Parts: sequence; structure tokens; C-alpha cells
Amino acid sequence: MMPPKPSTNVPRDPAAAGVAERLHASLQQSVAGAGGFLPFVEYMQAVLYAPGLGYYVNGTHKLGQGGDFVTAPELTPMFGETLATWLAPVLRDDLDGGGTLLEFGAGSGRLAGDLIAMLRELRVPWEAYWIVEVSPDLRARQQAHLEAALTADEYARIAWLERLPSTPLRGVVLANEVLDALPVELFRWREGRVWQVGVRVAPDGALTLAERPAPAALAEPVARLQEAHGPWPEGYLSEWRPAQAAWVRGVSDCLRQGVALIVDYGFPRSAYYDPERREGTLVGYYRQQMIQDPLAHPGLMDLTASVDFTGVAEAANAVGLEVLAYAGQGEFLLGAGLPQRFEARVGSGEDARRTLQAAQAVRMLTLPGEMGERFQAMALGRDCSHLPLAGIPDRRGRL
Ligand SMILES: C[S@@+](CC[C@H](N)C(=O)[O-])C[C@H]1O[C@@H](n2cnc3c(N)ncnc32)[C@H](O)[C@@H]1O
Repeated sequence: MMPPKPSTNVPRDPAAAGVAERLHASLQQSVAGAGGFLPFVEYMQAVLYAPGLGYYVNGTHKLGQGGDFVTAPELTPMFGETLATWLAPVLRDDLDGGGTLLEFGAGSGRLAGDLIAMLRELRVPWEAYWIVEVSPDLRARQQAHLEAALTADEYARIAWLERLPSTPLRGVVLANEVLDALPVELFRWREGRVWQVGVRVAPDGALTLAERPAPAALAEPVARLQEAHGPWPEGYLSEWRPAQAAWVRGVSDCLRQGVALIVDYGFPRSAYYDPERREGTLVGYYRQQMIQDPLAHPGLMDLTASVDFTGVAEAANAVGLEVLAYAGQGEFLLGAGLPQRFEARVGSGEDARRTLQAAQAVRMLTLPGEMGERFQAMALGRDCSHLPLAGIPDRRGRL
């Protein structure tokens, strides 16, 4: 997502107010059902995924211009083209000229479309492209986009899966800006102990943040983080994502041979839990605005927190996936072939508008003050020796 300007006072869209009201009522019930305190991780699960009501499943507009945020594939086809170029040797040489691609959270379908078009141009064969998508409306958008953008034969090889494949695949797994949506526990370090942040219902019915001593399942891992990366100042607020390791295990279970590429905003653990990062990373995105109040616009606002890439690497190692590459998005894309994609797009530069647009997109993707350093790319591999790692700076030592 592009880093928008902070704002806390954005008017709610009246057309979507019904969804928000029903979700609010459902959350009040959940708080009551949980004995008056709903852990934040459960709140986040509900506001993003509650059937029919959560942000990703209620049909409100999210991606692209006019949505809540713009992602790298929405900025430019060069993002997908670069990934295709970089991954091509795996499909061609590790997988004997074939293989399946599996994309988590395919957004508008642009990444899939751009990547497949590039594979076509490179004459790299692939057998199937599977998409795991929780959002029914985004899934419909992906279908419309891909049917229009691809050949009939290519489109016929795309399938939308309800769950992860039970037979492990040989191929490539992609997740661009998906892990950040997995719900997080919110915690505070106070009086030398861990407090769990959650949601209560105020006497006037409003949802408010509250804290209680953390249960052991949260207190223990967070105390270990404090020991390793603290001392944290009094009142230090941050997040911990309990579902992350299971997600990596899920990827591992469905990858017999090949590579999984994860791109997202995040940090190595020592930077994530640096004592200076006193307010954590949790933010909302609502109509291209960054919202600091995590309880604002329930069901209408995306809620997201950074990825602990050290945690991803640890979970991968634990299940026999090798961390093959880790770098900032900017340096990763520059090493993976973005400059060549830029040249191919602008040619001799006589189309000034096209050249300017492409140059602007390259700046957004790579500059440290834009997406270049906030976003990280990590490749996890199994039995995969043809990934072109030579041009990619090796930042694994930072994990
Ligand atoms: C921020 S968007 C990124 C979309 C796309 N990858 C892109 O880069 O444009 C997050 C995507 O992940 C999907 N999503 C969210 N949570 C998910 C989950 N738990 N499993 C699979 N997809 C998920 C959303 O519906 C959406 O398509």
C-alpha cells in the first residue's frame, strides 16, 4: 500500500453505514459473549472477516484508485512482469518446464494478469494458476479482469480454491500484501508485565479499547521479545501475530518443490520491536487515508500491521523451507529485472507520457521514502536451485 497522509477525521460513507451498524451490533454481542472483554486479535478477525460483514467479505470497495489503498501491482504492470522474469528460471529449469502458480489474496487480479502475460512473452510454460481469495467481490473482479486480459487457454487454467490444495504442488507461491492482514494481538508493556489490549462496550454502547493482564499464551512470547529487544519504555504498545507461523506451515504443506515469494511491509524482528517504536505498527486504511484509531469505521476500513520477517524465516526453517532471499523491495526489484522492464516499456522514450508514468512507478516501488524500504521481499524455497539470486542483495543477516 502506498503511504498516505495521516488523518483521523474522515466522514463515513452513508451507503456503507448499514454494514458498519450491523457489524457494530455483532461486535457488542461478541464482547458480551466474551465476558465483557474481546481480545483485539478477535476484534480484528471480526472486522476483517466476519461472514458478510467484515471488510474483506462485505463487498465495499477496497483496491485501486477510489478504493482504500493502492498496491504495487495496481501501480504498474512492471511489478508483475519483474516477478515473472525473476521466477521464470524456476518454472523452466527446476520444474522441467511447467509447474503451478498459487497466489494468496489476488486483489484485482492484476498481478496474475501481468505475470501470466510476461510468462507468455518469455515462452515459459506453466500448468495452472490457483488463487486463494477470501473476498467474494474481489474474486469476481479477478475473474472479470483475467477473462478479459488473458487468452481463453490461459484463463481456462486459472482456478479459485476454497482451501489450500491437499496435494502439494510443484511451482511458485505468491503473497503480495496478504500476511499483513492476518489478525494481530495488541499488547502493552506496563509495570514490568504484558497487558493484553482488547475491546469493551462503554455505557453509551460505543466500543472502546481496554487492557487486562495478558494470558500466558500472549505474555510468554511477548516477554521473550522484551528480553531480547528491550528494555521497552513504560507504556510500549506493539503487536504480535499468532497465526503467522501456521500460515507459513500451510504454505510449506502445499509446496512439494519450488519457491514461495512473500512481499509485504515489515521488518526484521529487532527493528520491529525496537524500544523506539513505542506505538507499534497497527494502522487502518480508509479511502487512501491512514487512520490511527483501530476502532474507527469497523468493517469499512482495512486494518493491518507489519510483518515480523524474522518470525516468517523461523517458521519456514522449522518446516524445512529454506530462506533463499531477503531484501528490501526496492533493491530486490532492481536486482530482479525492473530496470529491464522499464526499458522495455518506454523504448526510446519518445512517448513522454508513458515514460513519465513508468518512471514515477519505478520511483514509488523503489525509493526508500516510498515503498522501497518499508516493503520487504522474502523467497522461501524447497529443492529449488535456479532462482536467480546473483543480483539480489543478501540481507538475511539482518533477520
Ligand atoms: C492488500 S490486498 C493485496 C492484493 C494483491 N495481492 C495486490 O497486491 O494488489 C489483500 C488481499 O488479500 C486478500 N486476503 C485478505 N486476507 C486473506 C487471507 N487470510 N487469505 C487469503 N487472502 C486474503 C484480500 O481479499 C485481498 O485480495
